[in-house]
Amino acid sequence: MYRQTTGSMEIQAPSDPYLFVNDVRYEIPRDCSPEMTLNDFLREVLEIKGTKVMCKEAGCGCCIVCAVYKHPSSGEAVSKPVNSCITPLYSTVGWHVITVEGIGSAKAGYHPIQSRLADGYGSQCGYCSPGFVMSAYSQLRDNPRPTELEVEHFFDGNICRCTGYRPILDAMKTLACDSERSQCLDMEDLSRGCCSASALEKIPTSGLAPIARGWRGQRFYNPGSLADLFALLGRLRSQPHRLVFGNTSAGVFKEDAASAEHLLNIRNVPELYGIRDSEDGGLIIGSSVSLHELIVAFNDAGRRRPGFGHLGSVAEHLQRVANQAVRRNACWAGNLMMKHAHPEFPSDVYVLLEASRATVRISDGVSEQQLVLADLLRQDMRGRVILSATLPKINDDGHHFRSFKVTPRRLNAHAYLNAAFSLSVDKKDGYRVTERPSLVFGGVSGKFNHAVKTENYLQNRSLLDEETVSGAMQTLEAEANPAEEACGTSPEHRRGLAANLLYKCLLSACADALPRSEASGADTLERRAQSGQQDYEEELQPAPIGRAMPKLEARAQAAGEAKYVNDAPAARSELFAAFVQAPEAPAALRDIKADEAEQVPGYHSIITAKDLEGKYENNVVSALIPAMFAQKEELLASSEIRYSGQPVAIVLASSQWAADQAARLVVVDYEQTGDPITSVAEAVAKNSVIMQAPDDNVGEDFDQAYDGQACQVEGQLVINEQAHFSIETLTASVAPTEEGLVVTAPHQWVDALAMTLSRILGRPANQIRVVSPRIGGGFGGKLLMIDLVAAACAVASDSLGRPVRMYMSLGPTLALAMKRPGMLLRYRAAAGPDEKLRAASWDISSEAGYTLNMQAMLADELKHSIDSAFFCPSYRLSLKQMRTDKPESTFVRGPGPAPACLANLLLMDHLAFQLGVDPIEFKYRNLYSDGQIDIVGNTRRGDNFQRMWRELHQAAEVEKRLAEIAEFNKNNRFRKRGLDMSASSYNIFYDRGRPSQVYLALQASDGSVTLSHGGAEMGQGIGVKAAQAAAAILEIDINLVKIKATDSHVLPNNEVTGGSSTSEWNCQAAVEAATQIKERLRPIREANPDASWKDLLNKASQAGVSLAAMGSYYCKNGDRKGSRYSSTGVGVTEAEVDILTGEFEIRRADLMMDVGKSLNPGVDIGQIEGAFVMGLGYYTMERTLYDSDSAKNLTDGTWNYKVPQAADIPRDLRVHVLRNSPNEAGVLSTKAIGEPPISLAATCVTAVKRAIEAFREQTGKPKQFLAFDPPLTPEKVLQLSGVSAADRVIRQK
Ligand SMILES: Cc1cc2nc3c(=O)[nH]c(=O)nc-3n(C[C@H](O)[C@H](O)[C@H](O)COP(=O)(O)OP(=O)(O)OC[C@H]3O[C@@H](n4cnc5c(N)ncnc54)[C@H](O)[C@@H]3O)c2cc1C
Ligand code: FES
Ligand code: FES
Repeated sequence: MYRQTTGSMEIQAPSDPYLFVNDVRYEIPRDCSPEMTLNDFLREVLEIKGTKVMCKEAGCGCCIVCAVYKHPSSGEAVSKPVNSCITPLYSTVGWHVITVEGIGSAKAGYHPIQSRLADGYGSQCGYCSPGFVMSAYSQLRDNPRPTELEVEHFFDGNICRCTGYRPILDAMKTLACDSERSQCLDMEDLSRGCCSASALEKIPTSGLAPIARGWRGQRFYNPGSLADLFALLGRLRSQPHRLVFGNTSAGVFKEDAASAEHLLNIRNVPELYGIRDSEDGGLIIGSSVSLHELIVAFNDAGRRRPGFGHLGSVAEHLQRVANQAVRRNACWAGNLMMKHAHPEFPSDVYVLLEASRATVRISDGVSEQQLVLADLLRQDMRGRVILSATLPKINDDGHHFRSFKVTPRRLNAHAYLNAAFSLSVDKKDGYRVTERPSLVFGGVSGKFNHAVKTENYLQNRSLLDEETVSGAMQTLEAEANPAEEACGTSPEHRRGLAANLLYKCLLSACADALPRSEASGADTLERRAQSGQQDYEEELQPAPIGRAMPKLEARAQAAGEAKYVNDAPAARSELFAAFVQAPEAPAALRDIKADEAEQVPGYHSIITAKDLEGKYENNVVSALIPAMFAQKEELLASSEIRYSGQPVAIVLASSQWAADQAARLVVVDYEQTGDPITSVAEAVAKNSVIMQAPDDNVGEDFDQAYDGQACQVEGQLVINEQAHFSIETLTASVAPTEEGLVVTAPHQWVDALAMTLSRILGRPANQIRVVSPRIGGGFGGKLLMIDLVAAACAVASDSLGRPVRMYMSLGPTLALAMKRPGMLLRYRAAAGPDEKLRAASWDISSEAGYTLNMQAMLADELKHSIDSAFFCPSYRLSLKQMRTDKPESTFVRGPGPAPACLANLLLMDHLAFQLGVDPIEFKYRNLYSDGQIDIVGNTRRGDNFQRMWRELHQAAEVEKRLAEIAEFNKNNRFRKRGLDMSASSYNIFYDRGRPSQVYLALQASDGSVTLSHGGAEMGQGIGVKAAQAAAAILEIDINLVKIKATDSHVLPNNEVTGGSSTSEWNCQAAVEAATQIKERLRPIREANPDASWKDLLNKASQAGVSLAAMGSYYCKNGDRKGSRYSSTGVGVTEAEVDILTGEFEIRRADLMMDVGKSLNPGVDIGQIEGAFVMGLGYYTMERTLYDSDSAKNLTDGTWNYKVPQAADIPRDLRVHVLRNSPNEAGVLSTKAIGEPPISLAATCVTAVKRAIEAFREQTGKPKQFLAFDPPLTPEKVLQLSGVSAADRVIRQK
């Protein structure tokens, strides 16, 4: 499909499209579709797969590569990170692309960025790692001596779902020039991977001729001058055309990008670049100036040029637009044009330029116009180009410029509401507003950009006049009428927020006249650089068990060498599959039409439910669900569509790109059969109960324990769903072979998949071999829903006799994704006068989705965890499963404990409030003690709660910090801090039905060892821990051990990976296997005490000793009911809240976990941090929203579903591993750690609550228990703070 020529500078005919990848030149065929991206080309055409792909929206960063080319205008060498997933292939003509493979490898030597990330525990599952590495590499080429803070900001577009970011930041900060551990890179390191700047050629352009023709007749043009561009526009004006610069808008409005027939690349038009002075001293900015270049230029102008002081603030705000890679590739004009096409788009560029009084110059090649931005929005732009913007000077004297952006996540998030204000005041005249200010808002509605009436109102008024501010607020609240938004916040929230932002601006304009406490309202949260501490002791039992060491394959992961399922090269006859997904539910399926899809080049065929009839069982319910509970889950909907996103057909094609395109073109004919139920609250209102367990009374009779207590509380909360959001989404591949089907899938239970497929295909299990090389993040998402993908590939492969593979990007994955269930919990609880919890009743309605299958297990997990870390002698539990018209609910990290711990913490909070006691002290009093009976009927032992509480209370200096917080709060009316401390407990179940197994094979030729384990390695380090165990028993260097893929035919009948304890079981199995071999070697060793390891094995082999062994560990609870032991921890979190915006920062978190004897403290700390940050997302950020008419998941991408990023984690994160605490109930004296720490993040919620309470108390608001439904987003914080007009007044000194 492509021609490759080596030798980087061999040029063909000037217009031949080509690019270089890692210094090798590749010609791009002209018949690739113009929609093909650089990522498609790298991964699918060139099969260079170190670069990953997930969201295809420029939102996650895993696809980042470095682009180097000659700037079309300045001629200088440009080097920058690029989101390959949205970069059109044809716009990269002439570029040198550097991928992670290009900068280092095992063979050539790892690049320092790769090795530091790996060695610093920054790569768990590793799927995000190449993106982080290439983000750092590309930005370091541009800025070789960054500061720590700059390094931290390198990663504002990179998501890691595993590590919690701290280890990544720590590892990467060694690249900073101001770091204590600074080891800046030299030029040699930074030029690895690509040619020198002097070798760069001018980018070839192609005038008026298209360089590509797509299958629909689409054309891609690459003009090299403005004259060519206008000539093309003249010709194409009346046809659907689109200018393309960064194409990043395709990450936001996908449908816009898809509809154009003519794509005109304007990157190589030199006349559109440049920044220069206008005749009247203004600043003219070319339309192709990138957002990043704008920031640099504005910072410079803000510092040095009179009349442009405000541009420093504009630059600061622009740093929060999108992310580094987007800002470096996107132009500001493209952003304005998004606002032009979608007036409701909360464009930051628009509010900033409009408040700066910018005008734009546009042209169609015949005439030019200079327009204010409001007029640009109304202008017909077909056939026209924005040429430049002009920013006028603004008299600095008394000029005040403030801008704001309130977002669901600190960085890489669009605004709920943004605003930019420009006003001039005369301080000497009572801070009188001297001219009409400019008050610009985004996110209110598509119609409301300027607060015109408020602007008029403020003119000539004194800000110190009592009435001015209140009048301005009233005017603004009357004229700003926020529109309802499906994924935005409520209109009430945005109206109140708009007033608060203006108030902040007015406060800052007259801050000099205000007491410090009042002026605190003008501040915004300034995030400090992140730091972390890890406190642990290695307890060797014997070495290397207990040693802190990174995963053995960490460097390969960071270098893109580690192969994930979809990284395997495609076989010659391989087909690629994509699901056709139902748009709406509930619905009756009528017909499926593929006529249009068939036109896509490479289309092969379509499979519907009819095609399965008589051949395959159309039912993917997992074999792990006991038959008596199992309900049918169709692989392809046959007649009834149960949820939006449900697969209705499988399209097969010769590439994933073609399969995806074709699947989108298949028409699903259906009829809606009713109104969908899309939330648990609605399900409760409609009483759609599908299962109700009998009520339980655990311990003392509830009524007796509850009645008569002076302190009784009642409440309710709705806890949100959570998506797994693993960076490797769903994928599988199946190949027919002589031995049967070889299924490769990132699966948390290969054996269950083998059983499920065996049933679907009607073939014996020995013909279905499931291999899982590694998992790019699981968290429960690769346990059940992955079966859909594997089954689709299996039936297609089996019926066609060809290998079939499927990779689903994020959007389609989230559309059908099972999630953590939403739940509505009602509670009643009572405490005695001794401040002891006496009785608690939980009435829980949990969302099952469309089927019940996993719900009984999920319900058990929840019931067993609802006590969390606190003793209560009497429980009443009622649990209902509610049907909704959504995918079924499933396991997500900490399935029971994560919601239970938050619910319990809020209940404890409620009781402490009612009692009027310190919530920290109240929780301490009620912690489980040894000897007490817990909710599952076990006698608690070895929890170490009291010890950990005391130790952490001291280590975290809780008393001292509470005093400091009180002082801070006294002095800052609108910024408040809060601190809370709590504990969590996580039941560890050893009661499993199958063994954990490890197969060790020793190579007599060189002494190396292969280790296969039955667990699923998804970043949690099962492999390294099992290797440590084997190496310790065999007394060999761990580097002799190589970990192999999990394989259902090598280790059959294995146990699921889930519940956190798989690592320890596999370690024990490794011990068993190694011990068997050691015993066999004993006589040889005794006869040859001095033989080297290699000689020993050689002699043993010659003596007929088998050097392979299967170790097995079968886990049972022994005499305990329910769990075998509890994995416990305590945490202290401090937060600071900007009361006027609701935004908050987690200032510091101290976590202490009892890991027993840690098998690998380095890995365990990674699990603690990663779980905590995933919990932070669950409790404060992540929310799913469904369309109430179609039941479609509206939060099916990175734009609307926000998981935490590096800027959101605690600024100071300290992890303590409890010392001297062997766990007698666990194998190797350890405790499980993968999931338990998630619950400690609930303290983030109560720390923020404390801050809100401080504000309410100081401002005399009614004292009441603050109830809310998580996640605790800035919107909720604002609502709970109760800020009103009475707070928004000017209080002078
Ligand atoms: C992950 C992500 C996060 C983002 N976050 C934010 C955010 O927080 N705030 C925010 O404001 N924006 C945000 N954006 C939007 C981003 O700023 C824009 O996508 C970007 O500026 C568009 O520039 P581009 O060069 O990629 O335009 P393209 O995508 O190439 O083009 C966009 C549109 O502009 C037109 N166009 C481009 N140049 C010209 C020109 N010179 N004359 C006429 N028409 C032109 C094109 O025809 C097209 O219709 C985000 C985007 C992404 C992907
Ligand atoms: S940013 Fe490209 S795949 Fe997510
Ligand atoms: S290590 Fe980052 S997503 Fe797994």
